[in-house]
Amino acid sequence: MSTLTLPAIGFGTGSLHGGEAARLVESALHAGYRLIDSAFNYENEGAVGAAVRSGVVPREDVIVTSKLPGRHHAHDQALACIEESVYRTGLDHLDLYLIHWPNPARDQYVEAWQALIEARSRGLVREIGVSNFLPEHIDRLVTETGVTPAVNQIELHPYFPQAEQRAYDTAHGIVTQAWSPLGRANSLFTEPVLTEIAAAHGVGVPAVILAWHARLGVLPIPKASSPDRQRQNLAALEVTLTDAEMDAVATLARPDGRNKGQDPAVVEQL
Ligand SMILES: NC(=O)c1ccc[n+]([C@@H]2O[C@H](COP(=O)([O-])OP(=O)(O)OC[C@H]3O[C@@H](n4cnc5c(N)ncnc54)[C@H](OP(=O)(O)O)[C@@H]3O)[C@@H](O)[C@H]2O)c1
Repeated sequence: MSTLTLPAIGFGTGSLHGGEAARLVESALHAGYRLIDSAFNYENEGAVGAAVRSGVVPREDVIVTSKLPGRHHAHDQALACIEESVYRTGLDHLDLYLIHWPNPARDQYVEAWQALIEARSRGLVREIGVSNFLPEHIDRLVTETGVTPAVNQIELHPYFPQAEQRAYDTAHGIVTQAWSPLGRANSLFTEPVLTEIAAAHGVGVPAVILAWHARLGVLPIPKASSPDRQRQNLAALEVTLTDAEMDAVATLARPDGRNKGQDPAVVEQL
């Protein structure tokens, strides 16, 4: 069972860099976000750390997340990479560290997981988890190490609601986080099902989508490039969808509704 309590929504920083990233993380903290999602590969751990160290909120109130890239799954490389992530942030530890993708063809994710377990016992990271892991990958981690990930961060939005993976995560006590929760502002934003629900609640479509995640018990990490949008997304937690609205959103699901066809069974992340 995880030692961390995760907030219902976090702030995603993919594609944000440098001063802009630092300013937007600071404004996210001002708005009330208490989980910041980063990754070694986003090349913004420094900016995230600078914003967290700026003192907008007490350090211990913020969950700083980063992720291990596919090219560093070998045990010693993984540990060095986690140390480097911590150095980059300028913090003395990170709160949540995930294996970014399983890279099954490389078949080194179990040794990467052993490195994350070690990093946790050394106090480099408080809690550990995975991202884009399928049940078969998590089963192997648990069988070979006895340690269950606290979190599985996966692509999840109304076109791709991931019912089976969610059920698996829940059955194993794993928190599901949703990446690209807004589908990267794709055609979801003009789906009549969603625009009608948005009008009924007097909010925008992004708020409806994030309220849908909340009712599923999934923790979304939307990225937004303005303080205004950051606040709108956080305010989604004040919207409660009815059962009928949840059923209506469910009609948007597609067998492979992935935004960019990134299937964890085959993706090989560098
Ligand atoms: N683990 C993984 O493999 C993985 C993969 C992808 C992403 N992630 C994480 O998940 C986070 C979120 O995913 P994402 O960035 O791919 O996509 P997203 O959060 O689904 O969508 C971001 C897009 O939505 C727009 N947007 C956000 N709030 C809005 C609002 N209130 N009104 C209108 N437009 C709005 C943003 O525009 P502006 O930016 O112009 O405001 C941006 O174009 C990433 O930042 C990253 O931290 C993880």
